[in-house]
Amino acid sequence: MRVFDSNSVLAQEVSAQDCELTLGEMAEIIGSLKETPTLDQVKDWFSRILLRQRDYEPYRIFTPRKYARNLVARSAYAEILMLCWRAGQRTPIHDHGGSIGVILVCEGLLTETMFERMPQGHVRPYNTTRWGPGSVTGADVPDIHQLLNLQTGGRDMVTLHCYAPPLSVLNKYSPRSAKIARWREGYFAGGAGI
Ligand SMILES: [Fe+2]
Repeated sequence: MRVFDSNSVLAQEVSAQDCELTLGEMAEIIGSLKETPTLDQVKDWFSRILLRQRDYEPYRIFTPRKYARNLVARSAYAEILMLCWRAGQRTPIHDHGGSIGVILVCEGLLTETMFERMPQGHVRPYNTTRWGPGSVTGADVPDIHQLLNLQTGGRDMVTLHCYAPPLSVLNKYSPRSAKIARWREGYFAGGAGI
């Protein structure tokens, strides 16, 4: 078992070994952080995660009403969640309220649409990307996006997310209005819902 006792030691060790990380080791990293990791650092870790369904099965929980946010690990500096999406489930158009976000697609095809703020205050889509299993993508602090499971045939989607620092209050945008809503997401926990 590797010992992660600081961001710098951890970053050096992971880089030096060019090693794969299990989900458990990734959770250990989150628990041992002494400062908020950078976007590139998290993207590097996520690109090394060895995805085994038996490791993430406990977090592979869906809910019928909306996508489920299953907490894997959390510290003062970052959190990891497994999001499980039934066909058609989607986020609002949002930013991350000052956090960076990194996504690893575990199962299915993720649709991500990026938005830009217009002078009048509303948002407009400017790019849509479909990410397949194993893809790692990152959202920097100012980015505004929407994530969707647009797969046909009732196919599920599973994605792993890291937010640093952990998400607090987000901003929710509209393509039709300049109004910005504040949005706080909860965690799914043991059937309690979101
Ligand atoms: Fe997001």
